[in-house]
This record gives sequence, structure tokens and C-alpha cells, in this order.
Amino acid sequence: MNPPEAAAPPAPITIHSYLTPGDERTLADDVLDGLTRPFKELPPKHLYDTVGAELFDRICELPEYYPTRTERAILVAESARIAQATRASEVVELGPGTAEKTRVLLGALAAAGTLERYIPVDVTEAMVVRVADELTTTFDGVEVHGIVGDFERHLQHVPPPGDGPRIVAFLGGTIGNFTPGARRRFLRSLARLLRPGVDHLLLGTDLVKDPAILEAAYNDAAGVTAQFNRNALHVLNRELGGDFDVDAFEHHAFFDREHEWIEMRLRATRRMTVTLAALDLRVEFAPREELRTEISAKFTPERLAGDLAAAGLELEQVLTDDDGLFALSLSTPAAR
Ligand code: SAH
Ligand code: TRP
Repeated sequence: MNPPEAAAPPAPITIHSYLTPGDERTLADDVLDGLTRPFKELPPKHLYDTVGAELFDRICELPEYYPTRTERAILVAESARIAQATRASEVVELGPGTAEKTRVLLGALAAAGTLERYIPVDVTEAMVVRVADELTTTFDGVEVHGIVGDFERHLQHVPPPGDGPRIVAFLGGTIGNFTPGARRRFLRSLARLLRPGVDHLLLGTDLVKDPAILEAAYNDAAGVTAQFNRNALHVLNRELGGDFDVDAFEHHAFFDREHEWIEMRLRATRRMTVTLAALDLRVEFAPREELRTEISAKFTPERLAGDLAAAGLELEQVLTDDDGLFALSLSTPAAR
């Protein structure tokens, strides 16, 4: 007797979290280190708590913030070709957020009949859970292996590649949020997830352009970016028992022409003493003293090629929009 035809099983989702109570220690150490430097700064990954992630979503919709819609347009135009060039059966994505643009790429891989597995890696657990649910619904039969963790510390938990080719996707220009040395180190760690000639890195980089366009993208008229930036102080108040008067800090973002990066800062509008109970720390702010929260590096084609080469990656294709605002590149590790 033949068993009845089974209904298609629900697409498998597995989610592993590598964030442990010890990570609060990491936050504490990073903040202690950053706030006691001669020029104060904060570790940027703490911008993305649940509120921060929502504010970032709103940034992506702003008229001044061109990177998201430009990168999406490049993906819409080029995904079929990327699918053809890579024949990828799996996509590992670092910092997917809502994976809004990734859907375009996954759609092309599904249409080409090669897509089997998607592996999102993000510090924000809610994002990984939501993306896993949504994508298994959209892409029938595609497996999601979600990783909740820090992509600077937990890449060893990315499963080994399956039988088919892999794409490691790092979109949104997030690579620009690393300082130059850390950026190369990070690209090297991504190269280790890839097999030469078989797998590809798909990297989104924002390009150097008219500073007025760049500065507008980080100083939107609606003030959403300012809110996003100040949210870092709310995170410190909550997580480390801080007493920052958040409204007493103003958002300041500018293009540093020498380094070719946008620098995001918070400026104290008056003298302040801030206490962080969990660190047993008191921090003094002079009037107009600034605290750096993030950099966002902008690339020339030469810098892109140089950074990839320094990480042992060979550039195969650079895809840009007609206005040359943003670039997506495909590269593969040099044969070892
Ligand atoms: N890729 C999306 C989102 C970019 S925002 C886009 O292009 O629009 C940056 C994303 O990276 C956020 O989802 C944030 O939670 C995540 N992120 C930032 N630092 C991280 C880290 N160290 N480890 C893992 N995820 C991180
Ligand atoms: N990766 C984004 C970028 O560099 C992050 C970002 C956009 C951001 N706007 C911001 C970070 C404002 C801090 C503050 O473009």
C-alpha cells in the first residue's frame, strides 16, 4: 500500500543565537573604553536596538537618503545577471535588517532554479526571526538558517557551504561603518567563508560624490537621522544605568573630505556630568564637546579595488547606477 501523498512540509527554519550575557560585558567594556578617550566615541553597533532598527527603516525611506533606493534599483536591473554569473544555491547575508533588497536577489536566484538556503546574520534577534518567517513564506522550499550574533565575532558559526555555490552578501554600504583597518580585517574574514572561483562576495559600497548630496543624506529635514543618532544614548541609559539628558545633545553629521567619510557625532549643548551606574563611571562633557557615534566611508573605484585586493579578493564586476551614486561589486577569493 502506498502512503498517501504527503503535503509539502513547511520550509525548515533554524535560528541559533550566539549572544550571551557576556555580551553585556562587551558593551560595557566598549563604552568604558570609548567614553574615557581624549576624543569620546561610542561603539556603533549599539545604534541598532529595536527602536534603532525601526528608525533606520524610516531613514531608508527618506527622500535625502539615496543609498537604499539606488542599491535596490541596481539589484532590480542586475539580479538576473548576478544569478547567472554565480549560479548560487545559498546566500549568507551580514546585517540584513529587514532584507528588503535581498528579496530581489533571492527572487532572481529562485527564478533561475538554484536557490536552496538563506543564512541571515544579525545582532537584532527580532529581525532574524521576522526575515526567516517572511522569506520561507515567499520562497517555497527555501531553508533559512538564521544566526543571531555579532558578525565581527561569530562568523565561525556560519555553516560550511552546501554543494552549490554561495554568495556572501553585505549590502547597504554597512562596510563603510568600519574604520579602514578593521574594514580590511573584516573583508579577510568574509573571504574565508568563500571558495576561490566558486563562491562570491556581493558587496554594496556608497561612492564618493558631491559633499552636498552626502551631507543631506545624513541630515534629513524630518530629523529622523538625528533621532537615530541620539537613540544610542537611550541605549546607554537603559543598558548601563546611564543618566544622559538625551535632548541636551544635538546631531552633527559632516563629510570629512580628507578621509572621505561621513562622520556622525552628538554635540553637548551645555556642560554636563553623566553617570553610568553599571560602569561606576562619571563622564564630563564640556559645552559643545562632541562624541563620535559612527563613520560611513565613501568609496572611489580605486579604494574599492584596493581594499578587496588587500583582503585576497579578486574583483570580477562592478555594477553601478547611471548617476554613479552607489556600487555593487562581485568578487571571489584569489586562488590559494
Ligand atoms: N542590509 C540592510 C540593513 C543595513 S543596517 C540594508 O542594506 O538596508 C545595518 C544592519 O546590520 C542592521 O540590521 C544591524 O542590526 C546589523 N548590524 C550592525 N552591526 C552588526 C554586527 N556587529 N553584527 C551583526 N549585525 C550587525
Ligand atoms: N550603514 C548606514 C550608512 O552608513 C547607516 C546609517 C545611515 C547611519 N544613517 C545613519 C548610521 C545615521 C548612523 C547615523 O549609511
